[in-house]
Amino acid sequence: MKKVIKIGFIGYGTVASGAIQILTKQQVLLERRIGAKLEIVKIVDREIERDRGIPLAEGLLSTDVNAVLQNPDIDIVVELIGGIDHAKKFILEAIAQGKHVVTANKALIAHHGEEIFEAAAKQGVEVGFEAAVCGGIPIVRELKEGLAAEQINAIYGIVNGTCNYILTKMRDEGGDFSSVLKEAQALGFAEADPTLDIGGGDSAHKLAIMSSLAFGTPVALKEIYTEGIEKVKRIDISFADEFGYDIKLLAITKMVHGEIEARVHPTMISKDTLLSKVSGVFNAVNVEGKTVGELLFYGQGAGSLPTGSAVVSDLLDIARNILSESPGRVPSAAFMPQARTPIRIRPMAEIESLYYLRFMVQDHPGVLAKISGILGKNQISISSMIQQGRKIEGSVPLVMMTHLAKEAHLQAALAEIDQQDCILGSTLLIRVEGEDAV
Ligand code: HSE
Repeated sequence: MKKVIKIGFIGYGTVASGAIQILTKQQVLLERRIGAKLEIVKIVDREIERDRGIPLAEGLLSTDVNAVLQNPDIDIVVELIGGIDHAKKFILEAIAQGKHVVTANKALIAHHGEEIFEAAAKQGVEVGFEAAVCGGIPIVRELKEGLAAEQINAIYGIVNGTCNYILTKMRDEGGDFSSVLKEAQALGFAEADPTLDIGGGDSAHKLAIMSSLAFGTPVALKEIYTEGIEKVKRIDISFADEFGYDIKLLAITKMVHGEIEARVHPTMISKDTLLSKVSGVFNAVNVEGKTVGELLFYGQGAGSLPTGSAVVSDLLDIARNILSESPGRVPSAAFMPQARTPIRIRPMAEIESLYYLRFMVQDHPGVLAKISGILGKNQISISSMIQQGRKIEGSVPLVMMTHLAKEAHLQAALAEIDQQDCILGSTLLIRVEGEDAV
């Protein structure tokens, strides 16, 4: 039996440093778990002079990617360079060379997972991507294995630490969105270019992966409705509080009458839920299974060691399958490839939800009647309302919560309302998830 599994890294950044640290410092523990040694034989990066503070054997570092891809000794290639084009090329090349692959690249798996999984299945090799979704939380493995017996009904995830940090700070310390974002950047919690995080794109990548694993169907990114947190104001957080809600950027996917909903947007959730207690940079994923009921996975969704731990867990998994000569034991996408059937993703116009609406209006007689009249005409029923004399730039906020309504009806009503002279600023809509909304 093979006693050493050989590993090559492409990319020596934050996540690779975490994984390499775990592989070197916890070697004995890892060997005890799998009965073989995991040996790093090459680490490739464009920048090999910088000291990462990890002692490495002589000759391990290289700038030549072929030192990994063309190395016949290497069993598993770990891709940690991020981005799409080069990463995809290197992964497909590694697969073509008969090597197993581990990656943390959520964008790549969300965009090109189908092609990569197909290539891997043809070659009889594995692709591990635990680190691509929520860093240290083992949600990929749970969806593939721990919950294999389950018909998944729904997943609600706080899957972006940057957004959760910003919303938590706005709630607890009262700052506005841009000042909290600047502070998060200064502290290194938010990227210099935070577009993908705050615009919801990063969450959509993770949702595409989770939804596809949960429901056994390809979920194209372009079919995921994606809205970020930029428009949420401090005042919305305090109105939410008055209604007993918190605002979170949620990645939501559910099976509704045989069709899938997959959407990312700021969402009001009851303060009584566990998910609402998830603060700061932490991530959490709430899974509803038909027979197991509700589960909550909580932890660090980013960072060198938590994400590195997820990478190493994939290495161990693949190593075990190599050692037992059963690569591909668990299909990459959680279902047998031939059993993954297309399921319709509902366009956003067809979903039903409860809604929070904040209108910025003139404080005149008849304004409320006009707005509620248009809502009524579009079959939208108001469940509660707040109007307080808090003047903001000459207008007053008028806030309504609706009963369950169809998104198409709501959007039609808002289009008409926003054309009225009494509307002075842009209207904000936040979807509300609760028992009535499911
Ligand atoms: N930038 C992400 C976050 C982590 O803020 O959670 C990597 O997906």
